Amino acid sequence: VIFSDSVEASQAVAHEIADLIRSKQAEGKTCVLGLATGSSPVRVYDELVRMHKEEGLSFKNVITFNLDEYYPMEKDDVQSYWYFMHEHLFNHIDIPKENINIPDGMVPREKLVEYCLNYDKKIKGCGGIDFQLLGIGRTGHVGFNEPGSHRNSGTRIITLDHITRADASGAFHGIANVPEQAITMGVRTVMKAKRIVLLAWGSNKADIVKEAIEGEISSEVPATYLQEHDNATFVMDTEASAQL
Ligand code: GLP
Repeated sequence: VIFSDSVEASQAVAHEIADLIRSKQAEGKTCVLGLATGSSPVRVYDELVRMHKEEGLSFKNVITFNLDEYYPMEKDDVQSYWYFMHEHLFNHIDIPKENINIPDGMVPREKLVEYCLNYDKKIKGCGGIDFQLLGIGRTGHVGFNEPGSHRNSGTRIITLDHITRADASGAFHGIANVPEQAITMGVRTVMKAKRIVLLAWGSNKADIVKEAIEGEISSEVPATYLQEHDNATFVMDTEASAQL
């Protein structure tokens, strides 16, 4: 779906999420959201916060699982995804704290395998993800599933691609400060979501968006796996769709 304007597009995505939350509420059920960080989802979160404040949209029945976190990374570090999510969304809505799940960037290395397996188990235990929000990195990653990520990968520790670290270098005041690793939900974890919406804004995403949508399905561009999902939508602005 192509919008001329990313703000309008973000509002449409936020409204889809709000409708889902409300319909689950009406059935007395929880709504499980898979959430993303980066600049792409910021306006979606702005609109959800606005709907909470102005329209009384409640998040009391919402359970969230974030895609990824740098490793190692302290929660209260301004570069952490934990910090980002609280700053942009969680501090402004009525979601119960215990419903928020973000990979812990300080899990001791020897406990990582078990921690990641449990992250996937917890998602499954909640009934799976109802709605997964995604951005896309210039390497074609979703979450931090870098080139080479297997279709069957679960949540795990991953080594970040050089391009990904270069793209993050601004926030970290230099590439040398960007962590070399991250915890990410796996491709399988993401693909199990009942609904997936990937956001892409701006001309610097145009090449990778074309590859993701029109390219051959390959582990070299993990976003191509989304072609196999039966309810996935790319929401783009005109610039990001320019090469299609
Ligand atoms: C990071 C995140 C991804 C995100 C990507 C794109 O690598 N781990 O989940 O999609 O950045 O970021 P942006 O939305 O800022 O372009």
